[in-house]
Amino acid sequence: MVIVAPSILSADFSRLGEEIKAVEKAGAKWIHIDVMDGHFVPNITIGPVIVASIRKTSKLLFDCHLMIENPEGYISQFAKAGADLITIHAECDNDLKTTIQKIKDSGCLAGISVNPETSLDVIYEVIPDVDLILIMSVHPGFSGQSFIKDVLPKIKQAEELIQKTKKKIYLQVDGGINKENAGIVKENGADVLVAASFIFKSSNYAEAIRQLKDL
Ligand code: DX5
Ligand code: ZN
Repeated sequence: MVIVAPSILSADFSRLGEEIKAVEKAGAKWIHIDVMDGHFVPNITIGPVIVASIRKTSKLLFDCHLMIENPEGYISQFAKAGADLITIHAECDNDLKTTIQKIKDSGCLAGISVNPETSLDVIYEVIPDVDLILIMSVHPGFSGQSFIKDVLPKIKQAEELIQKTKKKIYLQVDGGINKENAGIVKENGADVLVAASFIFKSSNYAEAIRQLKDL
């Protein structure tokens, strides 16, 4: 069964708690939180203070996607703020094995993400250590971009690598997901779909989530 993780990046930030409650009521099980620092990506978004604040509004799994330089320096802050899963980027400036171990030591699940142009070779060594692989299907930084279909073979390749580990590793896809492409993304092996604009810009969150799940 596919998991839909609404990304609050397209939510109404003046009503963030209510928005999270609304997607929970609409059937979401995970909340995807896009953390950007203005260095790793051009945009600046959410820090641990906001995560701690919204933690009070929901018991759903908080999936923190760190698009920041030096993620290792911020793991404990996000864990303390209430993250359940912390995903770092393969392109970050830290040692991946060390940082993933730090996430696990903090009590969170650990994820590794690759940008559209990054080969899975870069994360090969750490795949047995992680709980989630995130394949970016847009260049990270902003919601509302178009899905890059060239990443489909990489999703399939990641699925095959996951099979070989014989352990449960989620395969998440993030960027430009909508009802037109959710089917093919799932066919290629994804089991967690992130969507910001498709859900939060729709007039009916439950219908949008259902459309992503049912295709
Ligand atoms: C992009 C973020 C995504 C983004 C998705 O850098 O990591 O999670 O919010 O937005 P949509 O679904 O609108 O492409
Ligand atoms: Zn994201």
